Amino acid sequence: MPTIVFVSPKGGAGKTTSALVLAEQIARSVPVTVIDADPNHPIKTWADGPNTPANLTVVSNADEENMIDVIEEAASRTPFVIVDLEGTAAKIVLLAVSQADLVIVPTQGSQLDAAQASRALRVIKQQEKMSRRAVPYGVLITRTNPVIRTRTTSHLANAFREAGIDLFETELHEREAFKALFAFNQPLSHLDPKDVSNVDKAVANAEAYAAEVIELLRRASQPQEAA
Ligand SMILES: Nc1ncnc2c1ncn2[C@@H]1O[C@H](COP(=O)(O)OP(=O)(O)O)[C@@H](O)[C@H]1O
Ligand SMILES: [Mg+2]
Repeated sequence: MPTIVFVSPKGGAGKTTSALVLAEQIARSVPVTVIDADPNHPIKTWADGPNTPANLTVVSNADEENMIDVIEEAASRTPFVIVDLEGTAAKIVLLAVSQADLVIVPTQGSQLDAAQASRALRVIKQQEKMSRRAVPYGVLITRTNPVIRTRTTSHLANAFREAGIDLFETELHEREAFKALFAFNQPLSHLDPKDVSNVDKAVANAEAYAAEVIELLRRASQPQEAA
């Protein structure tokens, strides 16, 4: 029953979008609960729209007082739990990270954004020290141009890799369809290609991203090989 927590102190990094895109992909095969811990409740609002998959439940009652209980309760009900947090590096983030089987740190591909992602990585390290256990994580570069790979983004990806930071191979591309999820309050699979361009490409991107998440979880759950 993996719990996946999205963390970045930066608003606009793509946490909510990548959390929902992942939730929708997982819901195609197994039940998933999204804990929408953003006080504006964007995913809860989305789920109030039409065509929300029956496998996808959203709860929005989590706060600093009850975060661990809300995660435990969700994990007892559905095989997957996804936590979307607001940007702040507050206690609630540490609490959620303490329950995570995987932390995803979305970041846009600029230096300034990467500096904020590094703050999120420090929160993970802090939690690792507190709990004396490794917290698997991956930095997910978001909102990249699907056609041209900019030098800035390549440079940044290399810098992360050289610093030994785990980076997703998949990037979440900048796609109208990912924005349209919230504009139309519809799942990706229900967006009308007449209204939104390249829905098929967004779906392919979402599938590749979800497959990589599942693979990371699989690897993280296996016993470490002896050195
Ligand atoms: N991959 C993407 N393609 C297009 N728009 C995106 C993408 N990711 C995020 N956005 C847009 O960027 C803004 C911020 O994204 P959001 O997921 O809300 O970030 P956060 O939760 O980190 O604050 C929103 O308007 C969202 O629609
Ligand atoms: Mg958000």
